[in-house]
Amino acid sequence: MQNLVGRDLLTLGDLTPDDLQAVLIRAKAQKLAHRNANKAPVATGKSAALIFMKPSLRTRVSFELACRDLGVHPIVMGPQDAFSRSETVHDTVKVLERYVQVIVLRTFAHSHIEEVAKHASVPVVNALTDDYHPCQVLADLLTIKEHKGSLAGIKMAYVGDGNNMTHSLMLGGALAGMHVTVATPVGYEPRADVVTRAQQIAATYGTGASITLHNDPREAVASCDVVVSDTWASMGQEAEHAQRVQAFSGYTVDPSLMERADSRAIFMHCLPAHRGEEVLDEVIDAPYSVVFDEAENRLHAQRAWLSLVL
Ligand code: CP
Ligand code: NVA
Repeated sequence: MQNLVGRDLLTLGDLTPDDLQAVLIRAKAQKLAHRNANKAPVATGKSAALIFMKPSLRTRVSFELACRDLGVHPIVMGPQDAFSRSETVHDTVKVLERYVQVIVLRTFAHSHIEEVAKHASVPVVNALTDDYHPCQVLADLLTIKEHKGSLAGIKMAYVGDGNNMTHSLMLGGALAGMHVTVATPVGYEPRADVVTRAQQIAATYGTGASITLHNDPREAVASCDVVVSDTWASMGQEAEHAQRVQAFSGYTVDPSLMERADSRAIFMHCLPAHRGEEVLDEVIDAPYSVVFDEAENRLHAQRAWLSLVL
């Protein structure tokens, strides 16, 4: 069994393939136990700071419930409360760690959470930054495993903006031995250093994964098992929305694109979805869409992570 006690989760690049398997196995076991109302609070008496510098529905609710299930007291804060009034990151963290045993943070610059982790003596969990969304991808990998039976060798095509989700899907796919194809317009590719990191992970651990970039979504999804999309304008990019809608014309996941995937392919989206932009109703509401399984699995993946690190 992997010993993850005290570990940070800033990006999935922090994990080994064995760490990832340990989290997914724990998540599935706790999910089944949860369904049988057989909850085991493992961290009674501990507290968690859940800090959201950006809006959240799924992440906030699922972390609060994960804490409740584990016997951990969640304290939710917004930008008014933490990192406000010119208080330094150092001072904020030193105060928080006198109260809580884990810090969960959603913020803008990834360097912000890196600074938090540098100062913190308690584990830090990335609840989304501009560059990564590891908790979502833990849930997504659990969802793919449930629907496809395994992860290694699965072909996943991501269509849209090369953003935080893309980066985490590439890193998670690399750890899990998946074939990840990313189709973006020119100029919206994922960061080259993250592509390199994912390829290094695949090579270092010999997972058999591949990472391929495309500009043509129709080529990217050909015969794939999983089609993924995400918003074209992430939180913090609202002012670019109109320009991005133009740039991403042709990148909508519609039924004709899904027809090019394997006939048993599933559709995934971390939500919130912008229906009529990156995905059409006919796809997100289709029987092959697993978007609400992904949302549910946020709870199970994050509860597993907290139970392993606390
Ligand atoms: N998918 C996701 O992280 O949703 P929220 O932004 O609502 O937390
Ligand atoms: N890429 C999106 C994900 C939302 C969960 C964003 O950062 O807004």
